[in-house]
Amino acid sequence: MTLLADPPTTVPQATVARKPQSISDLPVQRAEAPATAAQARARYFNTGNAFNQPAVPVPDQSFTDEPAQALNPASPTGLIACDRSRELGTAYQATTPLVLARYAKIRAGESLRTEFVASGVVVYVIVGSGNSTCGTEPVSWQAGDVFVLPGNVEHRHNATAVNAVLWIVTNEPQLAFEHLRGPAEGDAPTELVHFPAEEIEHQVKRLYDVGRGTDIAGSALIFSSTRQEASRNVLPTLMVAMNSLPPGGAQRPHRHNSVAVSLVIAGEQCHSMVDGRRKDWSQWATTVTPPTGAHSHVNGGEKWARFLIIQDGGLYSYTRALGFEFADA
Ligand SMILES: [Fe+2]
Repeated sequence: MTLLADPPTTVPQATVARKPQSISDLPVQRAEAPATAAQARARYFNTGNAFNQPAVPVPDQSFTDEPAQALNPASPTGLIACDRSRELGTAYQATTPLVLARYAKIRAGESLRTEFVASGVVVYVIVGSGNSTCGTEPVSWQAGDVFVLPGNVEHRHNATAVNAVLWIVTNEPQLAFEHLRGPAEGDAPTELVHFPAEEIEHQVKRLYDVGRGTDIAGSALIFSSTRQEASRNVLPTLMVAMNSLPPGGAQRPHRHNSVAVSLVIAGEQCHSMVDGRRKDWSQWATTVTPPTGAHSHVNGGEKWARFLIIQDGGLYSYTRALGFEFADA
């Protein structure tokens, strides 16, 4: 016995099988009788098949081959992207939906020219020393320095006596998502800003000297600038922070809607826990902490851990949707 009536014989069986039971079953709809080319371009979805659709999660993974390639003495001058565009389904390179991280190798005495369609460019010097030019203002850098450059303008990075490796992070996917061309020259939301390694150490030491309560998520040093002082970030949408953990220390479990793209600077016997999954660290890896996942970072070693974090948290703070909360409360 069947609960469904047999279909009328005049209706093909295939038509009945395709009959939608819900608006979520509907395919994309087109105009019934478009009168113009513009009307013919229209497409129609609905609450069931377009709103709050599940997407492939941001990959929870680390990039280790890319730094190994950059640090290989034999590798040539050039850029090595931490690219997950295939998994994310983007037509442009992306480490996460809004952020792209790369390693830049510059052989001793050589120069690397870059021009990123981004509002700004964040650089950390992994090894080597040299200088970069952005317009008429140069910056001399060495290992451990952080500097920020305006985007959408030519930069030249020059290594001096030894090979240099830089970690370069931009918001190119954010602009590509909207098909934007980037700021006009002189109109970027940042100027050249330099955070030398020695000053970073001084500022981090001050954080630990002063101390904090457990209501604060960690002891990260957050970088900003004159132009971005009100946002307390380096770019309107990107937050850059030097985080650290003392030997045996752990960051209190928490979650937020921003993604974190981190460079492991020092972290022997360190790991992260993300939604119950353990992710071991390796030096100079780029590691992604997906949005919304409950996570903590644990230093099981006897040396200080240090990691540079880039988050798209400025975007979520601006939209009042950061969603920060402790995950052990
Ligand atoms: Fe976090």
